[in-house]
Amino acid sequence: MHYQGHPYRTVWHPTEAARTIRIIDQRALPWAFLVEDLREVKDVARAIRDMHVRGAGCIGITAAYGMALAAETSVPLEVAAQLLKSTRPTAVNLAWAVDHMLRVGPTWAEAERLAEEDIAMCRAIGRHGLEIFHQLADAKRTKRGLPPNTLTPDLLRKGGGHQVEQKISPTLNVLTHCNAGWLAFVDIGSATAPIYAAHDAGLPIHVWVDETRPRSQGARLTAWELASHGVPHTVIADNAGGHLMQHGLVDLVITGADRVSRMGDVANKIGTYLKALAARDCGVPFYVALPSSTLDWQCGDGLREIPIEDRGPEELTHAEGPDADGVLHTVRLVPDGSPAANPAFDVTPARLITGLITERGVCPASETGLLGLFPRSK
Ligand code: MRU
Repeated sequence: MHYQGHPYRTVWHPTEAARTIRIIDQRALPWAFLVEDLREVKDVARAIRDMHVRGAGCIGITAAYGMALAAETSVPLEVAAQLLKSTRPTAVNLAWAVDHMLRVGPTWAEAERLAEEDIAMCRAIGRHGLEIFHQLADAKRTKRGLPPNTLTPDLLRKGGGHQVEQKISPTLNVLTHCNAGWLAFVDIGSATAPIYAAHDAGLPIHVWVDETRPRSQGARLTAWELASHGVPHTVIADNAGGHLMQHGLVDLVITGADRVSRMGDVANKIGTYLKALAARDCGVPFYVALPSSTLDWQCGDGLREIPIEDRGPEELTHAEGPDADGVLHTVRLVPDGSPAANPAFDVTPARLITGLITERGVCPASETGLLGLFPRSK
């Protein structure tokens, strides 16, 4: 994606600086756009643990680059692998990427290849998700007695008919939780991929952005991404989604995932489960977008088996932001002495999920559905 006219990825190996990994330091967004160099494996581990980089795909690929870096230093590969894998427990992409690098040999070229693959998977998710968006837009149009869409998705994808589509389509209202955007991957994102594809194709779209307390990835990162790309959006309190769904103001929910069990249970940012419950109660389709690097074939029952990260209470008890002069402050939100608990993810059972959008297409959230798309994976 672009920032101030320059194309960026979230993580890369700059050719002019050997033994260096370059990342966007997401802790500074949206107040500042900072690029950070990582030159030691321990710095890579710290960047993942302390969330300079975050999001399942992004931490996986950063760790892959970290393994390539380890191969050029005196840090034994097994030690580097253990260190990197220990940084965050829930997103399976991290262990997947590290184990992959150990298996095939940790080179810069292989890390680069994984980064390209991550982008290609997100792009394909965008294409498959766009078909769903078109179907829902068509259904909404029919319900309102508007003329059927005669433009093919292909034409729309290429940008043809942009204006015609905007005239005849009612706006599709999408709700998303956390940040499963380009910042959470190398580029493009998972949940945002169909959103960007729809917007670029001229399908009128508006995104309800859950603020996603306690770290506010929605309010700080997703809103920043959508604003940078010109996608109409509105930030809402985490508790507003159910109300909006009850009043017909949400046409679909789409989230990312940090780990998906082979039965189709989805671990994602805390609060996702409540959105799925509300969506089921209101008859709103609830989709999860994920690349296959997020599938954990070893895991059956997601609720019992997926490790949920507990993060520090200060994410909850304090908030950070600039004052009118742009000076950053951290303020306390909770009485001194009140303990706080901060489970960072929850698991949405497969039965609440309308479909999984992967790089190979859309399937039911079930073992049969997943094996239909990934036959030899079990
Ligand atoms: O704790 P984070 O910010 O690393 O959380 C991960 C996420 O970004 C979300 O859970 C997201 O929806 C899935 S990651 C593609």
